[in-house]
Amino acid sequence: MNSINLAVIAGDGIGPEVTSVAVAALEKALGSVELDITSYDLGSDRFLATGEALTESDLQSLSQHDAILLGAIGDPRVPSGVLERGLLLKLRFAFDHHINLRPSRLFPGAVSPLRDASGIDFVVVREGTEGPYVGNGGALRIGTDQEIANEVSVNTAFGVRRAVEFAFNLASTRDRKHVTLVHKTNVLVHAGKIWLRVVEEVAAKYPDVTHDYLHIDAATIHMVNSPQRFDVIVTDNLFGDIITDLAAAICGGIGLAASANLNPTGAFPSMFEPVHGSAPDIAGKNLADPTAAILSAALLAKSLGYLEAAERIENAVEHDLANRGETKRSTDQIAQSILELI
Ligand code: IPM
Ligand code: MN
Repeated sequence: MNSINLAVIAGDGIGPEVTSVAVAALEKALGSVELDITSYDLGSDRFLATGEALTESDLQSLSQHDAILLGAIGDPRVPSGVLERGLLLKLRFAFDHHINLRPSRLFPGAVSPLRDASGIDFVVVREGTEGPYVGNGGALRIGTDQEIANEVSVNTAFGVRRAVEFAFNLASTRDRKHVTLVHKTNVLVHAGKIWLRVVEEVAAKYPDVTHDYLHIDAATIHMVNSPQRFDVIVTDNLFGDIITDLAAAICGGIGLAASANLNPTGAFPSMFEPVHGSAPDIAGKNLADPTAAILSAALLAKSLGYLEAAERIENAVEHDLANRGETKRSTDQIAQSILELI
């Protein structure tokens, strides 16, 4: 591929500020590879104007791209959940982004709240299209004292297996070759059984990869006390959502956390986005840290096979963080520094 046909959804709040920097970083790192960009005006403005968050025709056009770069979604004028479900999750489900990959590495120079944060380097493989996120549930006797609300967590052997296989395969390429399943099998017994069984089955095919198991609550303690023990974590959609915010916090904050919503089959484009949200309180103030979006662009380059470009971006971020002083920097200052280093 000598050109990339990229869809950009800058979105809401700080989305456009951080995305434009990420695009500039990608462009520079790619050198002679052409970046053919189509911008999609999806987000709160479009929703407020048309009443629709994402149309079939948007999906059809987006499906034609090599990859999607997304900034952030969410706006105080739109009730919480509407754009999350109607746009972000709809994209993840429509394009079967079953692997939500969230690397968690402490870059030298990044400031962790932990006393001993040296050497944190793990990846969370969060299952992306199942669990309670499927919207399987309902409520009865709404608004009464007898109200009952159910949110069913859907776990299929097929869905669990592809996440677990991805995790073991990834671990087999890493130095420590270790997978930790994180779940709550002592309480969520039905789903837990699938996860435990599938991990054993897949592990048998990877004799070089070791594995262990932690309950989600215990995993949060380990993540604070000894995060260095983790290499690859595999977990379901909701546990993965929660634990990756914690992972971001210990690695220097949500401003540095990148993520990839992957469809490894290539049937649909994968989507890359910072873990953070639209942060409307600081939008347009030149305060947002574009690093997470830039690192998401590196994940994008890597997934399309542009390994050198990905490395150039990551090295630039690493140098920028290592050189940064104590003073708080603006979006423009961070952008300029990283772009110069690419
Ligand atoms: C994330 C976000 C989303 C999620 C929300 C906005 C639906 O928190 O990407 O982690 O829960 O997956
Ligand atoms: Mn989240």
